[in-house]
Amino acid sequence: MNVLVTGANGQLGRDIVAACTAAGDEVIAADHTRLDVTDRDSVLAALTTLRPDVAVHCAAWTAVDACESDPDRAWATNALAVRWMADGCRRAGTHLVHISTDYVFNGEQEEPYTEWDVPDPLGVYGRSKLGGEIEAGPDATIVRTSWVCGEHGSNMLKTVLRLSAEMDSLAFVDDQRGHPSFTADMAPLIRQLGLDRRPGIHHVTNQGAVSWYEFAREVVASAGRDPEMVRPIATADLQPPRPAPRPANSVLDNAALRLGGLPLLDDFRVPLHRLVRTLLG
Ligand SMILES: NC(=O)c1ccc[n+]([C@@H]2O[C@H](COP(=O)([O-])OP(=O)(O)OC[C@H]3O[C@@H](n4cnc5c(N)ncnc54)[C@H](OP(=O)(O)O)[C@@H]3O)[C@@H](O)[C@H]2O)c1
Repeated sequence: MNVLVTGANGQLGRDIVAACTAAGDEVIAADHTRLDVTDRDSVLAALTTLRPDVAVHCAAWTAVDACESDPDRAWATNALAVRWMADGCRRAGTHLVHISTDYVFNGEQEEPYTEWDVPDPLGVYGRSKLGGEIEAGPDATIVRTSWVCGEHGSNMLKTVLRLSAEMDSLAFVDDQRGHPSFTADMAPLIRQLGLDRRPGIHHVTNQGAVSWYEFAREVVASAGRDPEMVRPIATADLQPPRPAPRPANSVLDNAALRLGGLPLLDDFRVPLHRLVRTLLG
């Protein structure tokens, strides 16, 4: 199939391009310099000229704290740009795969969130991403993921690896829980959802719910360092406090996959060890 990937130089975009290429697809890797998704004319021209079978929309403004101080940029990139993508896809007969986030939820629910729980984002980033889901429309595949880690770009796994090599003691919050999700695992499944043109929301994460504190300990241990160097703190004790509130419970039940007979991704520790080995050489 022919696949257009937006945000192709981002953490997830890089691995979507790799997964599609490995599967033999013809891939148009559109990074930010090649396609600015906030430019309506460029988006419509790209889609109606290239007419890909599937567009995987990975482009987003993901700087959660910065979104709080520049909401217009967040709305333009994370919501309105999806309107251009959906319009272009409709005109070109392209199936849209839109990537979204756990931050659409407020995190107050005790249980994992299913695709049918009601979103209630806490901050500008989550609100703008929820706007993007609405713009993608009912025919699109919407993939919500969480705590994304990949080989390319910056993420919490890389931060923990770096800090644990530089410092004797690290503190991570123990009152925010989620499913760490690895782009190399997610990418082939996201490609398959697009190939199948499956409409609706799909939670796609690795399995195994942990706090950031527990996640950091796994990373430190995987790197052959002492996990006791990581100590738990509360979000309220973070100094300086972060501008954007985070959901305390980010755990996404992959119910649409599970109940739809699709395979779930591995426990996060499997790709975690693989990625640590790759990064440490
Ligand atoms: N990271 C996470 O933990 C996480 C969690 C849940 C969901 N998600 C979602 O997963 C998707 C992929 O995230 P990621 O972690 O791969 O983020 P990322 O590494 O920040 O990648 C996003 C890419 O979008 C590009 N971009 C930003 N504005 C653009 C524009 N106007 N036009 C075209 N490209 C633009 C960025 O390019 P520049 O850097 O050059 O601007 C970047 O390469 C996003 O939809 C995100 O909301 C991420």
